[in-house]
Amino acid sequence: MRVLVVGGGGREHALCWALKRDAPDAEVFAAPGNPGTAQLGTNLAIPATATTDLVAGAHHHKIDFTVVGPEGPLAAGLADALRSAAMPVFGPNRSAARIESSKAFAKQLMQRAGIPTAASRTFTALEPALAFIGKHAEPLVVKASGLAAGKGAVVCARRAEASRVARAMLADGAFGEAGREIVIEDFLKGEELSVLALTDGERVLLLPAAQDHKRLGEGDTGPNTGGMGAYCPVTIANPGLLERVRRAVLGPVLRELAAQGAPFQGVLYAGLMLAADGTLTVLEFNCRFGDPEAQALLPVLPGLTKHLADIAGGAWRPEETTLRGTRAAVATVLTAAGYPDKPELGGPIIVPRDLEAGTLVFHAGTLRDPDGTLRVHGGRVLTVTGLGDTVAEAARRSSDACELISFQGKTYRRDIGWREIREARAGAARG
Ligand code: AMP
Ligand code: GLY
Repeated sequence: MRVLVVGGGGREHALCWALKRDAPDAEVFAAPGNPGTAQLGTNLAIPATATTDLVAGAHHHKIDFTVVGPEGPLAAGLADALRSAAMPVFGPNRSAARIESSKAFAKQLMQRAGIPTAASRTFTALEPALAFIGKHAEPLVVKASGLAAGKGAVVCARRAEASRVARAMLADGAFGEAGREIVIEDFLKGEELSVLALTDGERVLLLPAAQDHKRLGEGDTGPNTGGMGAYCPVTIANPGLLERVRRAVLGPVLRELAAQGAPFQGVLYAGLMLAADGTLTVLEFNCRFGDPEAQALLPVLPGLTKHLADIAGGAWRPEETTLRGTRAAVATVLTAAGYPDKPELGGPIIVPRDLEAGTLVFHAGTLRDPDGTLRVHGGRVLTVTGLGDTVAEAARRSSDACELISFQGKTYRRDIGWREIREARAGAARG
């Protein structure tokens, strides 16, 4: 089997790693990949956005199926192009990827399908947006409708701040085209959950829920980022809750997409808010694996990539409807100093060879010099996944390894999984 993974982040390294785990004889290609994927297969010097070149590359290398990691290429129509060339691909067509690439579209879809989501309105003109903000309760949330690498949602404590953000997006082009349309919505309180499911558009296979830590600082403080760490399993996401997500969210949204002529095939990611009273609300959808959720989920789901291949090939008949992880996993992202605004690049990285068993290091923003030196090449540099019998044990392993890896300006959160660990301690104390 010859597989192409499109993308070059930690998620794509984890995908390549999982493919080799599940099918050791598989030949893995990554485009463009990174120094981590280079250790598992062949990197092709094709950017993830170069649709035509990717199709030609897949053809040239006789790829049996392609997995598209990031949202950008999906939104640009890479899956459509591969399908048109009769090449199996795991990932939605452009029309279905709009569930992520346009928050305005996702909101409309949810309203039509009766899926619970924060009350919102969409604007392309500044004056009506400011008028709406003027009458809105505080806090409130302003979001760029288009793709913004996880940084386009701004939680505003005050209306004045919301007005500034709306102006920056609509009038000053702060997020480029992505911010020319904005969604303004109610602020929701609760605990966030990432529920991911594999689907061929009809059948749904739920993965264990994960929890992402989007804020830069420990204790969930500071600005939103692409993700500073993730863990699984999440105890509050019990089987009953996951079934509610299937029934009230995933089923209806897949049917609505199909009804609109945009059936979704790939991994559908629901970002949810669970309120203290048990109410479940959708914050967003993504049309791909989360990063860093993938670096926590893939290691504890042996056999997962067979599902990806079968879905891509159109021959998927899963026996189960839910997958359970074999262990707990905590994925901590090591970032460069200055991330997310202005990461400092270029410093050498040392990853010790003898990290403890049960530790996985996935590359993202790294570059290998011709002399073999590994260097910082992006804001999110590495993801370090610790495995364990409990989230606490997995977190300890991840943190220990993060401590041992060195590069100038290394920054990370030492509290990934803190809610779960606190709850487990409280549970143990209650007996
Ligand atoms: P999104 O890109 O829509 O997932 O938003 C990114 C992050 O912003 C989410 O993971 C939440 O932490 C926060 N967020 C987004 N929408 C809301 C909301 N309506 N209420 C509270 N927090 C939100
Ligand atoms: N970790 C959040 C995302 O991938 O969008």
